[in-house]
Amino acid sequence: MLTDHGRHGRSRRALRSLVLVPVVGLLVACTGDDAPDRAGDDDAPTTGAGSTGPAVVALPEPSRSGDVPLEEALARRRSGRDYADRPLALRELGQLLWAAQGVTSAEGGRTAPSAGARYPLELLAVTRDVEGIEPGVWRYEPEEHALSAVGTGDRSGPLGEASLDQTWVSDAPVSIVVTGVPERTTGRYGERGERYVVLEAGHAAQNLLLQATALGLAAVPVGAFDDAEVREVLGLAADEEPLYVVPVGRPAGVTAPTRDGGGARRPPSGRPGRPRRGPSAGTCHHGSREAPRGARAKVPPS
Ligand SMILES: Cc1cc2nc3c(=O)[nH]c(=O)nc-3n(C[C@H](O)[C@H](O)[C@H](O)COP(=O)(O)O)c2cc1C
Repeated sequence: MLTDHGRHGRSRRALRSLVLVPVVGLLVACTGDDAPDRAGDDDAPTTGAGSTGPAVVALPEPSRSGDVPLEEALARRRSGRDYADRPLALRELGQLLWAAQGVTSAEGGRTAPSAGARYPLELLAVTRDVEGIEPGVWRYEPEEHALSAVGTGDRSGPLGEASLDQTWVSDAPVSIVVTGVPERTTGRYGERGERYVVLEAGHAAQNLLLQATALGLAAVPVGAFDDAEVREVLGLAADEEPLYVVPVGRPAGVTAPTRDGGGARRPPSGRPGRPRRGPSAGTCHHGSREAPRGARAKVPPS
């Protein structure tokens, strides 16, 4: 069963009044009356039995300074599809989410611009291996800098399949899915608002990618996916559209952390890691399955 806290089920004010769970490692499953009926859907995220309420996990305070200058992050950013089999820290996940959509002013301004300050974007984290939280689907709550549980259970495999079998999506310790609720923007700007929402997803994703680079992490923006399948995996309501899937992990071949947040790279010839199941780097990166018409139209050649 799924819940959809933070968007339909609860107002932001109500969410703020929830007690944040400061201790990570606790995922209280969600069983709200407002949960969409997913009976009979074996693939949907499941919540734990006997749970009593929503889970909200406070994220560590995001850092507002770092060792990597913006110019260096810009110069170093490269799509990374090969991840070490190591977890991400909750602090890192929180920092990535903050970079994409964090609140940075008392008026509610965010790290990424938004047409008319309508903020139509949402971020969902599909966690497979993040220290301190269970594998599951989590929604970022920018105003609280917190995660609210959408559903438990590792959904990285189904998300990879929905992304046209791009193995980096299923292998990543976390994928951040940028979604949009167009109505928030089209309500003011009409049809043109649809364009604004997609433009905003680009802003948010670039922030996320640069933050990943600055943290010494590897990430790639994935636009080739089956919309309906991603919706299904995440349990999205009809008015919320998946726009981007961004898998993030520690780059494979990095053996030890270094001062610059990166690490000592092994020679490319001896690259360790799990055997690749999909196309190797340097070939077409946009999935081993036939792309749906929409996805094909949306992605440039790699
Ligand atoms: C809109 C968009 C969609 C993309 N979709 C995918 C994708 O589905 N899978 C993938 O592996 N890379 C995807 N990419 C990443 C590009 O392949 C990559 O940015 C390009 O090869 C340039 O390499 P660089 O990012 O390392 O500079 C996408 C990039 C953009 C901008």
